[in-house]
Amino acid sequence: MRSVKVSLGTRSYDIKIAAGLLAKLGAECATLDLGQKCALITDTNVAALHAKSALASLKRAGFETVLITVPAGETAKRLKQVESCFNQLAAHRLERKSFIIALGGGVVGDLAGFVAASYLRGIPFVQVPTTLLAQVDSSVGGKTGVNLAAGKNLVGAFYQPRLVLCDLATFRTLPEREFRAGLAEVIKYGIIHDSDLFARLERDMAKILRRDAASLAHIVARSCEIKADIVSQDETEGGLRAVLNFGHTIGHAIEAITAYGRYLHGEAISIGQVAAAHLSAELSGLPAVECERIRALFGAAGLPVGLKLSSAQRTKLLAAMTLDKKVSAGEIKFVLAPRIGKAVWGQRVPSAAVHRALDAVSPLKTEH
Ligand code: NAD
Ligand code: GLY
Repeated sequence: MRSVKVSLGTRSYDIKIAAGLLAKLGAECATLDLGQKCALITDTNVAALHAKSALASLKRAGFETVLITVPAGETAKRLKQVESCFNQLAAHRLERKSFIIALGGGVVGDLAGFVAASYLRGIPFVQVPTTLLAQVDSSVGGKTGVNLAAGKNLVGAFYQPRLVLCDLATFRTLPEREFRAGLAEVIKYGIIHDSDLFARLERDMAKILRRDAASLAHIVARSCEIKADIVSQDETEGGLRAVLNFGHTIGHAIEAITAYGRYLHGEAISIGQVAAAHLSAELSGLPAVECERIRALFGAAGLPVGLKLSSAQRTKLLAAMTLDKKVSAGEIKFVLAPRIGKAVWGQRVPSAAVHRALDAVSPLKTEH
């Protein structure tokens, strides 16, 4: 088993990574000095595939578990579901020492984490991520929350889990498209922080797509190490943590103008990162050959590297970028990569350069 520590003083915790950890969930929770009652929050898809094993493990360790199932998909990340979870926790008399386990992808993790942050002003929670995106990104670092009609993740809290348990065997049931979407975040870590990881992804992509066990263990552990390092230095995104948003300003805008229906998050930020690479080539000295390596790696992972937009859609995309949470005093600041393995945040970018980067990923369609 690989283990990565997120160092945050009294709120430090471990990320444990191995195949088969679900069967050890109860024993792992028993080491954390938690109460005897817990709620396992999951979605309908994951419940059918993995809840049985988790529940059996918790029972063996002597925990009394309430199962709370929410609908699968982004629409579950809403206040109505938060309230429904609160009511079920209260009905089963969960107390301050009771705890919550989030079993599922980023949707379940963000929702259950927010429920844990606010029920009884905060009870402990454990993340058991079951998508690649959740194992390498959303379960680590304590961002929790839900969406509003006005936008994604607009309500939430920084609230760290007590433990993250990444069972690599849960990928056996993960649909191909979801798996590839998670790779967009792994490639991001290579671009912003680790040129060796990037080169390894270039070399091993075929093995990774076959879900080779050793390759998966490496990319999940290395991604978690990088995120843990960044979060340990800047928990609440005062500065450095912003590098994790490489490609996300344009990516989020793509998700927004396509009503969160056409692209998975990882697909949208794949296009966003290719555009950010073009901006980096123009403004921060990223060599053209590295910009091309970035585009090629997303392509090799089977992720989209461009999209078709009319000029009206492009106008909407630019407007959506100014609504992103990362905008401050009306100014969009970008994360740029001066080379593969290094990122700088808070970079002012002229709008003409944004247009040129968009031209590179989305040549304008002529309208008739
Ligand atoms: P998701 O949680 O919707 O999961 C994707 C789909 O896969 C769902 O249908 C789910 O039921 C299914 N699934 C999950 N695990 C499975 C498995 N092992 N086998 C079969 N099916 C499985 O999506 P996601 O991509 O994991 O997460 C996206 C969410 O994460 C978004 O809401 C995004 O805002 C959030 N996010 C949060 C952070 C953060 O730091 N908190 C970071 C990145 C993304
Ligand atoms: N996914 C970006 C962050 O955790 O900060």
